This record gives sequence, C-alpha cells and structure tokens, in this order.
Amino acid sequence: MSWFEDDLEVPNEEPSWVKIGPLDRFVVNRTRVVFVGVTKVAVLRRPEGFFAFKNSCPHAGGSLGLGDIAGTIVSCPRHDWRFDIADGRCLDNAIYELRRYTVEVRGDEVWVLV
Ligand code: FES
Repeated sequence: MSWFEDDLEVPNEEPSWVKIGPLDRFVVNRTRVVFVGVTKVAVLRRPEGFFAFKNSCPHAGGSLGLGDIAGTIVSCPRHDWRFDIADGRCLDNAIYELRRYTVEVRGDEVWVLV
C-alpha cells in the first residue's frame, strides 16, 4: 500500500487535528506532500522541528513541495518566488502569503492542524 492510500481523516470546516503518519516516514531536510482530505499539505522536517504549508503556491498554484529549500526559504518551482515557511512571507511580492499549518509530534506519530 502506498502512502497516499492510507486512510486520513477528512477535516470539517473548523480546523481539526489530523494524523499524517509515523515519524519515521518524514526524513530530515526533505519535504513530503500528504493529502488531508482534498488539501495537499507539504511537510518539511528540519532538525529544529516540522513545518507544514499548503502545497499550492498562492501566486499561481506551483507545487511548493517540489521547491528548493534553503534554511526556512522555499522557492516555488514555477516562477522562483521565495516564501519563508517560518512566517509565511513572500520575499518577492508582499501581497502574497503562504498558508501554513501547525504540526505536532505525539509519540511516534505526526499530526497537523488543518
Ligand atoms: S506559481 Fe509560485 S511563484 Fe508563481
């Protein structure tokens, strides 16, 4: 069974915590894209913790999970705009902001608030 076939809870309109998988499926310094209902969430595990953000770029929908990462800066693979995943700022056009999600590790499982 692939990762994308796992059963994930579908969130309601109100944000809710969703288990996105075991901790060991998230490799340090690599981004993994998971489906939470119909939302694609890019999850980056860093030595200092987890970052999660909407996979779809707020500019024109580029897949941010495929973007290069330098520190907390992700570059969109479509037009190379840079976003700071620590606070959501777009460094190349201030009117755009990255949608971020809160992540928690509970025991051996990773949860995201979506
Ligand atoms: S789609 Fe991401 S910068 Fe244009």
